[in-house]
Amino acid sequence: MDFAGAHILSIEQFERGDIDTLFRTADRMEPFAQRRRVTRVLEGAILGNMFFEASTRTRISFGSAFNLLGGEVRESVGAESSSLVKGESLRDTARVLSGYSDVICMRHPQAGSVAEFASASRVPVINGGDGSNEHPSQALLDLYTIERELQARGRHIDGLRIAMIGDLKYGRTVHSLSKLLTLYRNIRVVLVSPPELAMPEAYVEALRTAGHEVEVTESLEQSISRVDIVYSTRIQEERFQDRSQADLYRGRFRLNQAIYTRHCEPNTVIMHPLPRDSRAEANELDADLDSNPNLAIFRQTDNGLIVRMALFALILDVAHLVDQYAREVPWFNHRNR
Ligand code: CP
Repeated sequence: MDFAGAHILSIEQFERGDIDTLFRTADRMEPFAQRRRVTRVLEGAILGNMFFEASTRTRISFGSAFNLLGGEVRESVGAESSSLVKGESLRDTARVLSGYSDVICMRHPQAGSVAEFASASRVPVINGGDGSNEHPSQALLDLYTIERELQARGRHIDGLRIAMIGDLKYGRTVHSLSKLLTLYRNIRVVLVSPPELAMPEAYVEALRTAGHEVEVTESLEQSISRVDIVYSTRIQEERFQDRSQADLYRGRFRLNQAIYTRHCEPNTVIMHPLPRDSRAEANELDADLDSNPNLAIFRQTDNGLIVRMALFALILDVAHLVDQYAREVPWFNHRNR
């Protein structure tokens, strides 16, 4: 794909070579994300960060990534504080906001809404999550994390064994990640959910068509016993028509250190797109896993920053100029201790 000026709406836009380009660009962003260097390559550029649905990581990391490249960020948070509540269309909103921004990130509760918005935007739009459809930047940072974790274990994405656990019906991160895995070879995917929250058939079919081995189960213990990555997800209660129905499934697949020790191979990596639901009735990933070095959830969030920096650098076509506009930082940096 030609990154320059592209909307990033779906993982389907990417080919394997594009992923390599993005990941090697992300590698180069690490000194900036760690504040060892600063660059002003996007000085004067404005990111419109439009989040019409709750977010912590995606919104802040997109904004921080843009700031770290020297750009400015303008935000709208919550549909209730925008003129969408007055009946303004997504297309009019896009037409207006694209006059104020050089690139826009958008999250919205309706599937397909970000693509509709992008069709009227005059600047590139990045999908920060559209309903239960897709969350492409999350899948990209997840795969980047998987690559790094596997490399540290002398392995590659080809040949990966992964268990995806939880709400696979409404979980957009596993939808995008599944699509992404179709670009690779010889993968074993174990899908673990209640039948009512199973991965939609189209994603399962795409994995099988790519030649991957797909196993469907309701057993957490069975699923985590022969995999490299345990990818846990939250029950997406906000997608249920009747939220109380989510109570039926919350807490069904709890992972703690005792279960990990009993069932997982040594050095099995634990991932989660976050937020993990840490309420007592859910407790998807117990806090006793926090001292397990294989818990990669906060490496995922750190990687999100550099992958999103790389997306901006490529979309705004400055990846080759980042170092030219860079300098060392003079201030105290706890990361250098
Ligand atoms: N993973 C993720 O999308 O987190 P937020 O909802 O906090 O952005």
